Formats: sequence, structure tokens, C-alpha cells
Amino acid sequence: SGQALYGQYCASCHQANGQGLPGAFPPLAGHVPEILAKKDGRTYLLDVVLFGLQGQIKVKGQTYNGSMPAWGPQLKDDLIAAILNHITTAFGNKPPAGFKPYTADEVKKERARKLTPQKVYALRQTLKL
Ligand code: HEM
Repeated sequence: SGQALYGQYCASCHQANGQGLPGAFPPLAGHVPEILAKKDGRTYLLDVVLFGLQGQIKVKGQTYNGSMPAWGPQLKDDLIAAILNHITTAFGNKPPAGFKPYTADEVKKERARKLTPQKVYALRQTLKL
């Protein structure tokens, strides 16, 4: 399940309750909806998990400059979709109106872009997060 996968692959950094660790790992609780609310936020969220993220970011007033690992090499399309759908609704998160769950096919198509963590960072800067 998405919950079990989250526990296995994400919780060590972002914590079981999605609160992260201030200054080290950004929260997903309350933050995933902020990402999804942006134009192109849906694709950006998928890119972060597929390709990783490298660069200084600010989340809820805290600065982070760590390395988010790329999960694309290790996790199949359906598992990545399940994790994304989990973090969209877990921790009290509420997706935007009309949100459609991520699909394995969507992950497969995005994978073909072969982005680097640095390119994902450049995309983040166009999002105005
Ligand atoms: C950033 C999700 C696993 C460390 C992020 C962001 C998301 C995310 C959505 C981007 C926040 C933003 O752009 O505002 C996930 C998910 C994971 C996962 C779904 C499991 C599949 C991990 C793990 C680590 C980690 C295991 C630690 C080894 C980080 C760090 C950042 C980050 C350090 C900030 C990167 C930076 O400063 O540029 N994560 N994460 N994440 N994640 Fe993860």
C-alpha cells in the first residue's frame, strides 16, 4: 500500500507523521497541497520523487539545502504512483478540487524525461513555491 511504501522509503527523513525535521527534511504535511496548488505542481511533485532534488529551498519559512534522493531507479511506476497518492491525502493533506490520482502510465511517461536533481530544482524555481 502507499502507506507501507511511505514507511519504507520516505519516513526515515520526512518522518512517519509527515512533519519532517526542521532545517533538515521538509514537511510533507501541509506542504504537498501547496505544491499541488501551483500550476505544473502535479508534474513537479512527480519529478521530485522520480528524479530527486538538489538545491536550497524554503518551506514554511525554514531553509533546506539537502539532497532528496531519486526513487525512479529503484521503484516501479505503480509504486511511485501509490506513494504520491498516499502523501496527497495522508497527514491531513487535502488535494485540490478535481484532483485525479496519479497513474502508473503517467509515471512511465514522465520517466522518459530523464531529469537530474538540478533540473528539478530549476523547475521548482519556475513554480513560485
Ligand atoms: C524534499 C517527498 C524520501 C530528503 C522533498 C520534497 C518532496 C519529498 C515532495 C520536495 C519539497 C519541495 O520542493 O518543496 C519525498 C517522498 C519520499 C522522500 C515521497 C519517498 C519516496 C526522502 C528521503 C530523504 C529525503 C529518504 C533522505 C534521505 C529530502 C530532502 C529534501 C526533500 C533533504 C529537500 C531537498 C533540498 O533541500 O533541495 N521530498 N521524499 N526524502 N527530501 Fe524527500
